[in-house]
Amino acid sequence: MGGTDSLALIADDIRVCRACPLCESATQAVPGSGAADARLMIIGEAPGAHEDKAGMPFVGASGKVLNKLLLVAGLDRSALFIANVVKHRPPQNRDPLPEEVLACAHFLQRQIAVVDPLVIVPLGRHAAARWIPDIKISTAHGVPQRIANHIVVPMLHPAAALYQPRNMAVLEADFQALGELYRIVLRDAVK
Ligand code: URA
Repeated sequence: MGGTDSLALIADDIRVCRACPLCESATQAVPGSGAADARLMIIGEAPGAHEDKAGMPFVGASGKVLNKLLLVAGLDRSALFIANVVKHRPPQNRDPLPEEVLACAHFLQRQIAVVDPLVIVPLGRHAAARWIPDIKISTAHGVPQRIANHIVVPMLHPAAALYQPRNMAVLEADFQALGELYRIVLRDAVK
């Protein structure tokens, strides 16, 4: 891939992808959005209904929770890159099937290669499993792990705060710690 790949090229390839049946039921692809030079990347599971309509990740109810959490962390959403493991909405918001995750995996791989973030934050078990296959998100959330040349910080999915309000306190504590960790990592990286 080298230096010739770009987020725009990847987005074009995602939009014409027919590798799994999700493209047939979805309105459009949701490639991801944000800064190509982001030092922190947030990875969700798959677009929901609002994202499917807008073509943008995390613009619905989970997105509103995420925006609050980014405020808690002191992170500017426009400076990050936000994407999903699967780029088309699964019907009725069901979990993506393993073969759909597999068919889409190379797009996320290319996005990570282009952005090359210091920190990757997978949201929820399905996204975190991309890095930590047998993850128990109930105990691993908020715990940074060095994986290859990234620091991976798995988090509960923001939707967890919608169906169980006490998860919001857990998410807020984890995002506050994430913000502190990120600023230290960033400071050390520019030394
Ligand atoms: N949930 C996700 O995992 N991703 C989105 O983009 C929206 C909701």
